[in-house]
Amino acid sequence: MDQVGTGPGFNALTRRFFLERLAKIGGSAMLLAGMDALGFGIGSAMAAPPKLDGTPKAKKVIVLGAGNAGLATAYELTQAGYDVTVIEARSFPGGRAQTARKGFSLTELGGATQTCDFDDGLYINHGPWRIPYHHHSTLHYTRKFGVALELFNNDNDASFLYFDKGKGPLAGKPVRKREAVADMLGYSSEILAKLSQQGALDSRMDAEDKEKFLEFLTEFGALSKKDLSYTGTPGRGFLVEPGAGVEPGPGKPSTPHKLNDLLDSGLWRLVQGISEWDQQRTMFQPVQGMEQIPKAIAKHLPDGMIRFSTEVKRIRQTRKSVSVEVLRDGQPETITADWCVCTIPLSVLKSIDHGLSPTFADAMAKCAYAPVGKIGLQMKRRFWEEDHSIYGGHVFCDNPDINNIALPSTGWQGQKGVLLGYYNFGPNAAKVSAKSPADRAAMAVDFGQKIFPAYQESYETSFSVAWHRVKYNLGGWGMWSDEARATAYPVLTEPDGRIYLAGEHMSYIGGWQAGAFESAWQQVERLHARAMKG
Ligand code: ALA
Repeated sequence: MDQVGTGPGFNALTRRFFLERLAKIGGSAMLLAGMDALGFGIGSAMAAPPKLDGTPKAKKVIVLGAGNAGLATAYELTQAGYDVTVIEARSFPGGRAQTARKGFSLTELGGATQTCDFDDGLYINHGPWRIPYHHHSTLHYTRKFGVALELFNNDNDASFLYFDKGKGPLAGKPVRKREAVADMLGYSSEILAKLSQQGALDSRMDAEDKEKFLEFLTEFGALSKKDLSYTGTPGRGFLVEPGAGVEPGPGKPSTPHKLNDLLDSGLWRLVQGISEWDQQRTMFQPVQGMEQIPKAIAKHLPDGMIRFSTEVKRIRQTRKSVSVEVLRDGQPETITADWCVCTIPLSVLKSIDHGLSPTFADAMAKCAYAPVGKIGLQMKRRFWEEDHSIYGGHVFCDNPDINNIALPSTGWQGQKGVLLGYYNFGPNAAKVSAKSPADRAAMAVDFGQKIFPAYQESYETSFSVAWHRVKYNLGGWGMWSDEARATAYPVLTEPDGRIYLAGEHMSYIGGWQAGAFESAWQQVERLHARAMKG
């Protein structure tokens, strides 16, 4: 069966559920992707850029694209004495690493122009939005250039899970994650502990290990030491929270949900397991938006090195040089260099007159790009904090047009806030992106109302993006099927003559900024080794 996938940005909690759901509708031909393209289990390996010692003999480089890969390429090569020109179609650096705030404008292909009208100080990272603690390369640049970080709350015990299509009393009801997790762990531990006492594990472990295992289950699952039953735990929350004096004093404990109600509800599908690597805490975000990273790198490049608002029209190379024909503010120009590092997404590069070898072009064609959509909703009141004590994190749900509602990890206890109203992928992103921005917002607000009573009345304005409809991206990130990863991808990691490819698509950390940085580092090192020879 084809594997139909989303991308690594797909939140871990919903990702597993989504994959299962997609597996059931495996006939969908929307996208093909291997598990590696989904970000399963592969982390960032490079902690620092390569050391580029010596003086290169051929040192003129054209970098195509001023996203994170292009910026890192330009910065590292400049430090090593190269003469770099960066060509960027947009009027700002960062590629997909954008932040929408008041005045930010985006026109989708064949769609409306949206100009963000959030209140001053409010914003949404509609591209990359979180940085795992093990993405050493991203954190290298934030440290180096003093980009202030704050925590991104990627997992909130107090937040809700919402499963509309389940059965029983918990279906279609927001349930706190802490309740679902405590109860599922409690019941699972109870069942295992009792089975163990009945001898069911005797063939697996000796008496001593059994005793330790029982001890673990009792602690882990909050079981009664007396009879190994699970009857609840403070960790799932209280009916009345503890406080001062005699009343409320110790508070009143809460009652666990019934195991079969939990199973019927489907909520357990939304609970994050420990198998996820790229979703673990600690996560960060730059203070004042993700755009701070590319802006900081760009600031450390020589003035004028990046030629903004310049579109690549034609790329050609000889045995000795690369020339790129561009349109700069409508004026044609040709730039020639010894080398080219091309960070343009393959989805876009495919349609440029690139002159790359047929083998290269065939390999490029094997990379699909993920339809991805996000919406920021400005709320006039932070009801999630005020009414529900939810500070950041995600509300996971089973509606694939929404997937998760993410509460902002900044501006705590302020008056207003911008939350992420949906984060959709694949066919659902395509479906939602066909709506007008106003209809996307209406859909998102209607859904949020099912979970938060104050959603609708608090909503003020929105900004949405459908990355597959953004001219210079045509997709959220590159996706490789297992077959393409094995055959096409390795072809593209090699240079085609004097042209090197870099970008998140050229990594196993696809859909993450670390993939862009590390592929840039890798190609820069290889280019340098060659340039030293002439
Ligand atoms: N890696 C991206 C995310 O975190 C796409 O959602």
